[in-house]
Amino acid sequence: MMQLTLKVWRQADAESKGKLVTYQATDVTPEMSFLEMLDVVNEGLEAAGEEPIAFESDCREGICGSCGCMINGRPHGHVPRTTTCQLHMREFSDGDTITIEPFRAKGFPVVRDLIVDRSSFDRIVHKGGYISIRTGSAPDAHSVAVNKGEADRAFDAAACIGCGACVAACPNAAAMLFTGAKITHLARLPQGQPERFERVQAMTDQMDSEGFGHCTNTGACSNACPKGINLDVIGHMNADLLRSQFKSRKP
Ligand code: SF4
Ligand code: FES
Repeated sequence: MMQLTLKVWRQADAESKGKLVTYQATDVTPEMSFLEMLDVVNEGLEAAGEEPIAFESDCREGICGSCGCMINGRPHGHVPRTTTCQLHMREFSDGDTITIEPFRAKGFPVVRDLIVDRSSFDRIVHKGGYISIRTGSAPDAHSVAVNKGEADRAFDAAACIGCGACVAACPNAAAMLFTGAKITHLARLPQGQPERFERVQAMTDQMDSEGFGHCTNTGACSNACPKGINLDVIGHMNADLLRSQFKSRKP
């Protein structure tokens, strides 16, 4: 069993002032995931008639992107390529003090405790992170020839789960790694070509309007990304945005 001291950000709602509150976590085993550890703490809080700590989760398999929070100042904690739900307590030591806070960014307002509103990402995707052309039923996999290198790069970009760790890690709270991943994943494939330049303009316009900052090439985003999204997606997005200036915008 591990005994831990937790300093957890508690904030009743978006308007309230938040603060760090200290809890003792006992009955924690090294096999537990970080979220299971919080579940145990919450059971204790509920039994004592206190409000449980609000945090977000869904898949608990590292694929939905909902569970992110700052753990000891790092998005998703200190283990590389690992989401909060896939982080296990064996990565910590008995007696540790762990500080847990929500992601901090203007584009991610706090909803409650560790939960932030990431619907700004949804609005960016809504502006063009899809293919609107009707293609009928799914074709045979080999009927649309895609260069292997391009397919691999599209697949790498498509691994983004929209967790927001890149924004939380960036000193400018930029969303360029996320937006770049969504743009690159479609721009590398034949199916993404007809709307390619309208897409990059619409999505980057929306990204700017959501209050995210701009990239200054620190690389903190890629370093914090649990899916290892490479910085080259930002270069790809910027190159497409430049090319799009020579194409006419749709009214
Ligand atoms: S680029 Fe990485 S860190 Fe950013 S939202 Fe996607 S998966 Fe999360
Ligand atoms: S709960 Fe889905 S990625 Fe963590």
